[in-house]
Amino acid sequence: MIDGKKSLFSGMQATGTITLGNYLGALKNWVNIDQNEYKCFYSVVDMHSITVRQDPAELRKRARSLFALYIAAGLDPEENCIYYQSHVSAHAELMWILNCFTYMGEMNRMTQFKDKSKKHPENINTGLFTYPVLMAADILLYQSDVVPVGIDQMQHLEITRDIAERFNHIYGDVFTIPEAYLGKTGTKIMSLQEPTKKMSKSDENANAHILLLDEPDVIMRKFKKAVTDSDACIAYSEDKPGVKNLIDIYCAISGKKTQEAVAEFEGKGYGDLKKIVGETVVEELRPIQERYNDLMKNKDYLNQMIKDNGEKANYYATKTLRKVQHKVGFPDRIR
Ligand code: TYM
Repeated sequence: MIDGKKSLFSGMQATGTITLGNYLGALKNWVNIDQNEYKCFYSVVDMHSITVRQDPAELRKRARSLFALYIAAGLDPEENCIYYQSHVSAHAELMWILNCFTYMGEMNRMTQFKDKSKKHPENINTGLFTYPVLMAADILLYQSDVVPVGIDQMQHLEITRDIAERFNHIYGDVFTIPEAYLGKTGTKIMSLQEPTKKMSKSDENANAHILLLDEPDVIMRKFKKAVTDSDACIAYSEDKPGVKNLIDIYCAISGKKTQEAVAEFEGKGYGDLKKIVGETVVEELRPIQERYNDLMKNKDYLNQMIKDNGEKANYYATKTLRKVQHKVGFPDRIR
């Protein structure tokens, strides 16, 4: 709890323009959260991004672009604390402390570490290994009750809970134990080219993902090329992953139930399905892209929001950090 409201934290990496998967699995749900009920913190987690080599100028550009996209998607930066993770040093400080309460064996089990190590065998750094501890610090700093994420982050949420419970067991009730919040739909959007793999911005095949800033004709073209199957019948089933994914995307945007959508497509072909889903996505993203383009021109406003919210986040994060530092036995600051 923070200021009498439940606290909520989530974040996204600034490693590229976010995908339709990031949007439907996370950002769209964030926008629908009731701000009267929750105090919300949304971070552009640039510190996580450097676990993989980044071009510095490009990372700065992408972080700003993501900051603007959060707002363009509908998060009011006066109501929600939207900030850069690297502007709040408490994240790194708490991470160090939590590292000392996390076991090698636990980290060894993390599937994301295994996947990313395979992908970047030339750079298996310790940051990649302890990545989930930084995530735990992000979440626990804001005493988060709820963390809205896609399914791929569930293992990291579980380890966060384990670390928090271990710490609380030793030092008393220091951290709120967070719960994951999964949306009803869109929690795992798949690649348009290999629909058994999740849609990811790091996919080298540009046709595999829809990026939030893709132009309408690019979106339509990517859907047209989406992999389905040799059958011609539109059905929602695990053995038709390509078609299932298109229906999932359609339902996540339209709010329709699966059966309702399947009935709507009855008698239609795959070409129609791809066209309708493509158009639905274009119309969903159009106002976001327009707001984004305006915002990026409004430098002073963005800078002000970055500064104000960075200060706000620092205030709340430092409060928790000081408590933790005291608990573990660090000397109190002299005022
Ligand atoms: P990231 O940047 O990979 O993804 C951001 C959010 O998007 C969700 N997501 C998806 N949802 C549905 N379908 C997909 N294909 C898809 N791809 C991604 C993710 O589940 C996530 O919610 N480690 C995190 C960022 C992070 C974080 C945190 C999240 C850092 N600290 C603390 C929550 C709380 C990450 O790399 O997400």
